[in-house]
Amino acid sequence: MAGTDDYLQLIARLQGEIQKGLDELDLPAEPRYLYDPVRYIIAGKGKRLRPILLQLVGEIYSASASDLKNAGLAVELLHNFTLVHDDIMDGDDQRHGQPTVHNKWDESTAILTGDGIFAISQLLIGKVETNPLLCWTRFNEAILEVCEGQAYDKEFEDDNNITMDQYLMMVTKKTGNLIGLCAELGGMLGDQSRDTCQALYEYGVILGQAFQIQDDMLEISASPAKMGKSLGSDIAAGKQTALTILARERNADEWQRFQAEQTDLSELELCSAYYDYYRVTGILELCRKMTGELIADALAKLEIIPEAERGNLLAFSELVLNRKK
Ligand code: IPE
Ligand code: IPE
Ligand code: MG
Ligand code: MG
Repeated sequence: MAGTDDYLQLIARLQGEIQKGLDELDLPAEPRYLYDPVRYIIAGKGKRLRPILLQLVGEIYSASASDLKNAGLAVELLHNFTLVHDDIMDGDDQRHGQPTVHNKWDESTAILTGDGIFAISQLLIGKVETNPLLCWTRFNEAILEVCEGQAYDKEFEDDNNITMDQYLMMVTKKTGNLIGLCAELGGMLGDQSRDTCQALYEYGVILGQAFQIQDDMLEISASPAKMGKSLGSDIAAGKQTALTILARERNADEWQRFQAEQTDLSELELCSAYYDYYRVTGILELCRKMTGELIADALAKLEIIPEAERGNLLAFSELVLNRKK
């Protein structure tokens, strides 16, 4: 593997290429009701982790540059479509350092913007030339699974009986599965066997589970400015996260008392109070341990890749584990 600086340069270069690809999408100017917010989303400051993963895997198997570009843009747009609708569902006002579409415009605009971005992602995945039907099928299976994950996320709100297994099932569907798809598409575009593609998918799924647990932790520990998105809505909505489940498992009565005491606080004050609770009770540490173990499990799946070729993915996994936004 190249040194850390080289690796960060590689990531920055890929981010630049993905942004260029997005900027060059040949979108009509009108109707502005649709295309103004679509352009606004495309210009947003996402980390572009999903197309980066797809690119890194695809390069190992010498996938064609045009297939990687089309599939990479497709997964990034798909991800952004889910975010536009997720922000309506979660009532969040900021994303990628700017107001969410339903906040800047309104909900009708945001629903349509999501629909439009979704359609563009379909047109892009339809352009891949290697294993096209398989790629298209897996792409759509993944979308349906994200919808299932989002459904469980809503159904689980305020449900104090949700177990860690149910939580992991939910985050596998809403987050792990799309990250898994990215790794898998890299294999499929490189014309790899089903076994290899399945192992790549499993790597991405487990990485995605760790990613979501981290996201739950960052939701209460990071600053909105650094994350570029609204934080704290998980608490107000009674979202079930790895943190809340561990807190309940540790001492249900104390956890209930703590929650009942947190009245008249702003979202950020709530985050800070919950953060302290999780830190003092050792729950943050337990969550960190969980993400570390998941990353180790994810890495074990990469043994399917020749050792000399694994470096960039090891570094990518590390980047996910240590992310601060
Ligand atoms: C945010 O994902 C949504 C989750 C699945 C937690 P990212 O953190 O990858 O989104 P970007 O980088 O802001 O687009
Ligand atoms: C986002 O999950 C997952 C999808 C959009 C499918 P969250 O709702 O937990 O993520 P953030 O915190 O809004 O980014
Ligand atoms: Mg959300
Ligand atoms: Mg959500």
